[in-house]
Amino acid sequence: MADANAGAAPETAGGELAEAGLRWEVDGAVATVTLNRPERRNAMTFATWRGLAEIGRSLPEGVRVVVLRGAGPSFSAGIDLSMFSGEGGEGFADGSDAAATDRFIAELQEGYTWLRRPDIVTVAAVHGHAIGGGFQLALACDIRVAADDVKFCMKEPALGLVPDLTGTKPLVEIVGIGRALELCLTARTVHAEEAARLGLAEIVVPRDGLDAAVEELVASLLAVNPGAAVATKRLLWEAAENTLEEQCAAERREQTGRLRDLFGK
Ligand code: ACO
Repeated sequence: MADANAGAAPETAGGELAEAGLRWEVDGAVATVTLNRPERRNAMTFATWRGLAEIGRSLPEGVRVVVLRGAGPSFSAGIDLSMFSGEGGEGFADGSDAAATDRFIAELQEGYTWLRRPDIVTVAAVHGHAIGGGFQLALACDIRVAADDVKFCMKEPALGLVPDLTGTKPLVEIVGIGRALELCLTARTVHAEEAARLGLAEIVVPRDGLDAAVEELVASLLAVNPGAAVATKRLLWEAAENTLEEQCAAERREQTGRLRDLFGK
């Protein structure tokens, strides 16, 4: 966790990331990324998503767990709405050039997709509002620890948009198509008790216990053999796509690697 002993983040820790509303620290095997525009409820700009991608690319070797958290009263209020009126939205692709818009969105999605890398486990520490792109950021992480004041909301359809920051797949996988439709097309808010019941949060704790709960989880994650953690994450994420036969083969392949690492000569 980020603390007084935390090492400074490598290269990317400069002013650009701060301007993008991001801060990150590396402390041994743990990187902590903080959405850091509390006065705007950590609303995110294109620069934020590009900054997240840059952090993913800059993670030092040896980092095994990445924690994402929000400064202030909320995890994130989603996209910075001022970008729709032009402010800070330079380079905004308006859809008139389909190929350019596709490339533009793909670049922003890179801020989220690296969170699935098998060499790290990603933990979202979510409190207060997690709206739109903020909800999708939590969904992009492997594990969500939520405070009991959490409010998840997929707001995009209410604004005439679709969720496009990688969130639709994990949402459907977690809650099922019917519930995903209901949540997205009503843009209603999911509170902590329901989030736990739906599986949107693996752990729910009182607001003042969030940091301690995340610390405890991180310690448990780090206690597992690193090679086994990487192989198991890869295996579990493959499971949804594979047939039983393919998954059995994947289990054999991963276990062969583990046995070689543990006992091979
Ligand atoms: N974009 C830009 N500014 C924002 C955003 C946002 N998404 N969310 C909050 N802010 C600003 C507010 O304008 C306000 O600024 P001000 O102090 O200059 O007036 C400040 O942050 C604090 O916000 P409040 O509304 O005063 O805080 P409160 O705690 O009462 O409400 C809430 C928080 C519920 C998040 C509310 O601000 C809100 O509904 N924000 C918009 C959420 C939204 O629609 N996001 C887009 C989702 S779709 C997507 O992400 C693609």
